[in-house]
Amino acid sequence: MSDAPLRLGLAGLGTVGMGVVKILQTHADLIAARAGRRIELVAVSARDRTRNRDADLSGYFWESDPVALAQRDDIDVFIEVMGGHDGPARLSTEAAIAAGHDVVSANKALLAHSGQALAEAAEAGGRVIRFEAAVAGGIPVIKALTEGLAGNQIKRVMGVMNGTCNYILTRMQNAGLPYDQVFEEARQLGYLEADPNLDVGGIDAGHKLSLLAAIAFGTQVNFGAVELEGIGNVSIDDIRLAADMGYRIKLLGVAQMTGRGLEQRMTPCLVPADSPLGQLQGGTNMVVLEGDSVGQIVMRGPGAGMGPTASAVMGDVIDIARGTRLSTFGQPAKTLAAAIPARTSSAASHYLRMTLVDKPGALAKIATCLGEAGVSIDQMRQYGHSGTHAPVLIVTHKATRDDIDHAIGLFASTGVLVGAPVAIRIEEV
Ligand code: HSE
Repeated sequence: MSDAPLRLGLAGLGTVGMGVVKILQTHADLIAARAGRRIELVAVSARDRTRNRDADLSGYFWESDPVALAQRDDIDVFIEVMGGHDGPARLSTEAAIAAGHDVVSANKALLAHSGQALAEAAEAGGRVIRFEAAVAGGIPVIKALTEGLAGNQIKRVMGVMNGTCNYILTRMQNAGLPYDQVFEEARQLGYLEADPNLDVGGIDAGHKLSLLAAIAFGTQVNFGAVELEGIGNVSIDDIRLAADMGYRIKLLGVAQMTGRGLEQRMTPCLVPADSPLGQLQGGTNMVVLEGDSVGQIVMRGPGAGMGPTASAVMGDVIDIARGTRLSTFGQPAKTLAAAIPARTSSAASHYLRMTLVDKPGALAKIATCLGEAGVSIDQMRQYGHSGTHAPVLIVTHKATRDDIDHAIGLFASTGVLVGAPVAIRIEEV
């Protein structure tokens, strides 16, 4: 065993930071045996020193400024678990790199916005940035992509990577409750981020997808190019009717390289109810990786919380202690290509829900519009009703979103449509 311990500075003593402290305090010997050297927490930093954290922090230097912590010359690794894509998180990460320290981060927002610049700065100085905890919590998906699957050309990356959204959607499904009521439940349970739009607007999950896409396709992280749509417009009617057709609605991220460029989308999708993604319940995350040699890998596990996120942070710290030196995004940052962002135009089946005036020929008019737009109907159902309006559900054969939108545009001139139709992509998983 090496005599020199690996010395840590920890910025952020919230749920994740205290999870790291707990692992370091309870598993010191186990970790030393695995890493081949002791790992010691030297100094910590947090906004509020007086808060009761239910742990003995007296053995660690306290820095009130995370930048000062990052610049200390008695640490080797700076751990950033404060969050936020700017401000102290970015300044302290930059300061740690400039001071010659390695960085372990749980900060998906920071890396999604500034990952390329940070990676280039770190690699220019021979430093590493590791961020397993930033994507899908405790699931070691970055390690799988950068190491285990390094010999594959990655074909597609998919994932349910926001546990709060999956909790809301599965709770709506299982209890038959509307979105607003379940959103309020999630808020009371403390599941939502301080800015709930990060969760339900798809932003948090979009950050994670953009990081996986960079590694998978050797491209510079480009969060701005992710097509984002949150779950706020998913209605209980759609959840029920999708279930009736054998599907579940998920906030699903998909990244794939096409002949036109890199498609990245984080949007509500239908997936088959009996697929692994369809069966995913509650706050659990799932990442699906497809490589040309390996085929499909499905990784499922806790995407947030003290233990799972701290577990991912410690995996990175132990790798550094062992001497593992990996490029931030799996290949030198300077060699990452600036990906051409491509709007999703791959064809897929679509779910269409609409309400029609219940009179002769109404359905025929809708079918004609679909035909004119080159969209073929796979399944169609009209639901029981007592008034003058008829709810109709159509599942199409594969069609592009442009063709679906063209058909919806034609519906408007038929005079048989009541309200706006709903169209949701059915993802092949
Ligand atoms: N709020 C996230 C989630 C965890 O619900 O999965 C942090 O990214």
